[in-house]
Amino acid sequence: MAELVPVDTFDLIIFGGTGDLAMRKLLPALYHRDRDGQITADSRIIAASRSALSRDDYVATVEASLRASLPGDDFDDGHWSTFRNRLHYVQADAFQHDQWGAMVDILAGHEDSVRVAYLATAPSLFGSIAGGLRANGLVTEKSRIVLEKPLGRDLESARVINNAVGDCFRENQIYRIDHYLGKETVQNLLALRFANSLFEPLWRRGSIDHVQFTVAEDLGVGGRVEFYDGVGALRDMVQNHLLQLVCLFAMEPPSSLDQNAVRDEKIKVLRSLKPITADDARANTVRGQYTAGAVNGKTVAGFLDELSGKDSSTETFVALKLEIENWRWSGVPFYLRTGKRLKAKHSEIVVQFQNVPHSIFPEQKFNVSPNMLRIRLQPDEGVQLSVMAKEPGPGGFDLRPVSLDLSFAETFGIRYPDAYERLLMEVLRGNPALFMRRDEVEAAWEWIDGIIESWQVSKQKVESYVSGSWGPPASSMLLDRDGRAWHQED
Ligand code: BG6
Repeated sequence: MAELVPVDTFDLIIFGGTGDLAMRKLLPALYHRDRDGQITADSRIIAASRSALSRDDYVATVEASLRASLPGDDFDDGHWSTFRNRLHYVQADAFQHDQWGAMVDILAGHEDSVRVAYLATAPSLFGSIAGGLRANGLVTEKSRIVLEKPLGRDLESARVINNAVGDCFRENQIYRIDHYLGKETVQNLLALRFANSLFEPLWRRGSIDHVQFTVAEDLGVGGRVEFYDGVGALRDMVQNHLLQLVCLFAMEPPSSLDQNAVRDEKIKVLRSLKPITADDARANTVRGQYTAGAVNGKTVAGFLDELSGKDSSTETFVALKLEIENWRWSGVPFYLRTGKRLKAKHSEIVVQFQNVPHSIFPEQKFNVSPNMLRIRLQPDEGVQLSVMAKEPGPGGFDLRPVSLDLSFAETFGIRYPDAYERLLMEVLRGNPALFMRRDEVEAAWEWIDGIIESWQVSKQKVESYVSGSWGPPASSMLLDRDGRAWHQED
């Protein structure tokens, strides 16, 4: 395992400190990094929210939550007694800046520590919280601010947030999180592409026939149904996670891993995305919504049932065909799909290479299949390369595809850290390379806004799909029309 270097002493203020993200992701991530010795003795975690809670109440809530959520024997009583001492609680209303006295007091005298404000709140509060930090003199040279997605719901609202936060913090102090960039296998995409010379000459039109990106979830929208209605899969997943995967996959080799070198290459991909217009939206995009069905052997309700029967045309599934208009990718289709309540939780990138130009095996029973590189993102992270091989035997010359299969878990034999562990450490270290720059977020919104507008103009409907399936039939048609098919539909 890579050496774990402790980060400088910090004060991490979590706005929304009693919320779901703090409890489910941030505090477990900090607990793990602390247990592995990456957090210095004087570092503090200061939760802030509107509720009137004592420090003891807050610590008890965190303890109950960690005990319930940490896997196996990860919760350790000995270590908890160290971790609990880091926890503090202050009451602060995002809009009542003159009542942040408790926060001002707790931070006084700690100006030399790295100071991170993590905004695990609704995006409508981002501007006001940034303003409150500035108004109370809490922004120091060592301050950073972390913004959780969604960063607005379109280009205009994203710009409003970026302007408001940008009035109080410099761009290099702003960390816009996309947790997919913290996933080990997503980072492995960089290693696969740029630490091996094998693939790069083939990573382009001429060698690659098409690429498929699947981010499938078996869960429904659950307790977020009110938030999700009116947002939908395009804004929730494609604008950020899927486009970031496309960027890392398709970008030119950066000159280094420096924060701007990588982000400069990603933005070029976003700017090369061919707009999806009202004329081609129906042919190139599919919107779906789940109905009742069965997932993993359990009966589940439909999206409209979860909305208590309210009507909604929000999509819980989206599939689309995307084109990148540049020299490397011109003419290579990228097919993207993501959805909730699908058959399984399963995310992968499948690269299908072009077939051989001419087969010299006339007797074979099976056709020569094109080579395929499958990058499994979750679960069972790994890489699989399918190649054609001759079936053993003295008879004819029968061919079949076989796999060179690498499972990261088996190879490295360690627990895969959650993406938030990595990303929090990067913020504390002051390395924004794995975070989205303002121009990236805005370029992604610009492209997504174009699709939403096209859907409105072309009045594109959502198509139902049964929970536990792979989405509406139109999603298969999207590839079928091009003589292709989604991989792994069993
Ligand atoms: C979040 C989306 O950003 O990512 C959720 O808002 C989604 O709707 C989640 O469920 C998926 O993340 P992961 O890490 O489970 O693939």
